[in-house]
Amino acid sequence: MEDRLVTNDVTVEDQFEKNIRPQYLNEYIGQSEVKENLDVFIKAAKMREEPLDHVLLYGAPGLGKTTLAYIIANELGSDIRTCSGPAIEKSGDLAAILSSLEPGDVLFIDEIHRIPRYIEEILYSAMEDFTLDIVVGSDASSRNIRIDLPPFTLIGATTRAGDLTGPLRDRFGIVTKLNYYTIEELTDIVKRTSRVLESPIDDKAAIELAKRSRGTPRIANRLFKRVRDYALVMGDGLIDLKITKVSLDKLKVDALGLDETDYNLLKSIIEKFNGGPVGIDAIASSIGEEQTTIEDVYEPYLLQNGFLKRTNRGRVVTKKAYDHFEMEYQDKMF
Ligand SMILES: Nc1ncnc2c1ncn2[C@@H]1O[C@H](COP(=O)(O)OP(=O)(O)O)[C@@H](O)[C@H]1O
Ligand SMILES: [Mg+2]
Repeated sequence: MEDRLVTNDVTVEDQFEKNIRPQYLNEYIGQSEVKENLDVFIKAAKMREEPLDHVLLYGAPGLGKTTLAYIIANELGSDIRTCSGPAIEKSGDLAAILSSLEPGDVLFIDEIHRIPRYIEEILYSAMEDFTLDIVVGSDASSRNIRIDLPPFTLIGATTRAGDLTGPLRDRFGIVTKLNYYTIEELTDIVKRTSRVLESPIDDKAAIELAKRSRGTPRIANRLFKRVRDYALVMGDGLIDLKITKVSLDKLKVDALGLDETDYNLLKSIIEKFNGGPVGIDAIASSIGEEQTTIEDVYEPYLLQNGFLKRTNRGRVVTKKAYDHFEMEYQDKMF
């Protein structure tokens, strides 16, 4: 059972991400406030010889939650065990993982908001008192038993902090939001990836890549990988500005990092709903995406960068988006 839950089946993409993942806090670029705080909490925990408080990491996909979980374990000098919310189907699954922990271990649960509620309740006493309350036997002969767990640190990651139940959220001592990265930070990330992969990139190209990465390290690294291919086949291997621009255009990533789905989303609101306001459900069905995917993955970047606005009557495309598409904007009275 453990083999199924512990995510050790890696895809090619996973392996790529693993190779370029920073291992320690000082290699983790950006998120400076997050790093400073964690650094203090980790040092204090080590000085007290106590486990670090449970940590909840939330933010859009690709911003570095999994990376940070591994870094925290490294900095603590702890072993890390990983599993993900959707893989936990029975309370026995979670009980098995918890009872296999060693003192001081880090347990990383990705997509923690997707653990079913009745299973999640097992976590409450595990997190609070390091005890596991389970029911053995069935019907008339069933009884509760309590097992002591070793002290451990739970790190939960989620794209939707709002979907976590109150009781679960309250049991995290450290709650940390990861934000989109600045162009400067992404440029550093691109340069770091270039060093790790030993594929040279010049400064202007690194900045261009950063600009088109939607504020997201995972996207920066993926684009890097593609651009590197173009540089190898079309040039002499050096990633320069010209190759970067040509290949990103081919990949349909525009100058502001908007991709085809962003275009689809914004243009369908403009063309089918006259720019909004329109409800998220109508947008979802018009572009054939899940509502939650739009809310978690696409919308936050568009909202933050002012292409889209949220009003109490629905989403509205802004003048900035019209201008970006070179479409005529008509100011509407709301
Ligand atoms: N702060 C950072 N500095 C350098 N690289 C980063 C940083 N955050 C993320 N990355 C890179 O981006 C990729 C995606 O990060 P990941 O931790 O898997 O994101 P998440 O779990 O939030 O979806 C990783 O391969 C990692 O190398
Ligand atoms: Mg992750």
